[in-house]
Amino acid sequence: MKIAVIGAGSTYTPELAEGLLWEAECLGLQEVWLQDIDAQRLEVVGGLVQRMAAAQGSPFEVQQVLDRVEAIAGADFVITQIRVGGQEARILDTKICLEEGLIGQETTGPVGFAKALRTIPVLLEICADLRAYAPKAWLINFTNPAGIITEAVLKYGGVRAVGLCNIPWGLKNAAARACGAAPEDVDLEYVGLNHFSWVRRIMVQGRDRTAELLEKLAAPANIPGLSLDPEFQRALGLWPNSYLNYFYLQDEMLEHLRSQPRTRGDVVRELEAQLLKAYQDPKLRSKPKELEKRGGAHYSTAAVWLIRDLHLNRGGRHIVNVANNGALPDLPAEAVVEVPCLVDAGGARPLAMGRLEPHIRGLIQHVKAYEELTVEAAVTKDYHTALLALATHPLTTSVNKAKRILDRFDEEHDLGLRRH
Ligand code: G6P
Repeated sequence: MKIAVIGAGSTYTPELAEGLLWEAECLGLQEVWLQDIDAQRLEVVGGLVQRMAAAQGSPFEVQQVLDRVEAIAGADFVITQIRVGGQEARILDTKICLEEGLIGQETTGPVGFAKALRTIPVLLEICADLRAYAPKAWLINFTNPAGIITEAVLKYGGVRAVGLCNIPWGLKNAAARACGAAPEDVDLEYVGLNHFSWVRRIMVQGRDRTAELLEKLAAPANIPGLSLDPEFQRALGLWPNSYLNYFYLQDEMLEHLRSQPRTRGDVVRELEAQLLKAYQDPKLRSKPKELEKRGGAHYSTAAVWLIRDLHLNRGGRHIVNVANNGALPDLPAEAVVEVPCLVDAGGARPLAMGRLEPHIRGLIQHVKAYEELTVEAAVTKDYHTALLALATHPLTTSVNKAKRILDRFDEEHDLGLRRH
């Protein structure tokens, strides 16, 4: 078995490597190919992965390459975790939004739009490599904005793909901790889109414990001291993921972001520099503790168990990003949604989740429309489709602002949008 990691110079890679080492034997994993376009980062991160594998008796071979085709050729699984434009592009895009008085947010906000427009063309090139050199491979996409990227891949990539995020695992773990159960005993009924999701029901060993756990589990906050009003949470009757605060608390979140001396991108850039320095220590042979500050916790569990169930035809339940196909009848069949799926060698089959509650239905349809338009804009490079996408986004608040940030994104990143 061969796994290729595209964008392996990511500081997340040791997290993934840890998971691959746990499951190497069970998967029959023989080769892990690490590919990146940044030779220096590949050297540093690859070096640590080599030492991690050696410390565990080298259950598989680790190869480091700059050439993408070499990494992909004959792979069974290709994991994509790229960041086109690096943190620099994220920082710039966030500032462009803040200057207009808009929340940027690089996954679920307008900065995610810019990131999607830069990233989708590259992901579609990777898909072309899969079709040519690894036609049976599964593409596991972790690249953000994960839902939008996966929708582009499934609609236009011509490959088998599943989109992955660590948030569902994070919520499952938090629910398990709150009731003293093991995470594998917890099942979440979960609806929505990537970084735009709600837990509807929490089952623990087959018992519905939603009411009791919703009282215990505060809605996750991304900013200390800023959380949803408890009465709203009771009215909601669902457990929202933390990214919803950008929508539910739009004014407060914007105020907070504007008051910060540095953007999240600046903080992450510094964290990554520290991590890359730590990774260079030849004595380091495991994932360092500091990686937790970067985010991405549970990435290894989510990725490796998904791969295991696809590869070994296990029939496990995973909350992943797939084509809707009726799981949420309020959304188009081909729209990518994040819902519980049954995973076996045939793929990830979404489970029927039924109609959406009226208080989240409109929001999800609204954001899905923005996502659909974003995919179309990235593929067609049509300026007006791009403008409609951004103007449709619930966080842009003014179509004139949407137009101005679009023009800046286009100019700064040479998006090459065309007016037909
Ligand atoms: C969470 C999200 C990821 C995100 C990560 C880091 O794990 O699920 O999608 O990339 O946090 O976010 P950050 O803002 O720190 O780069």
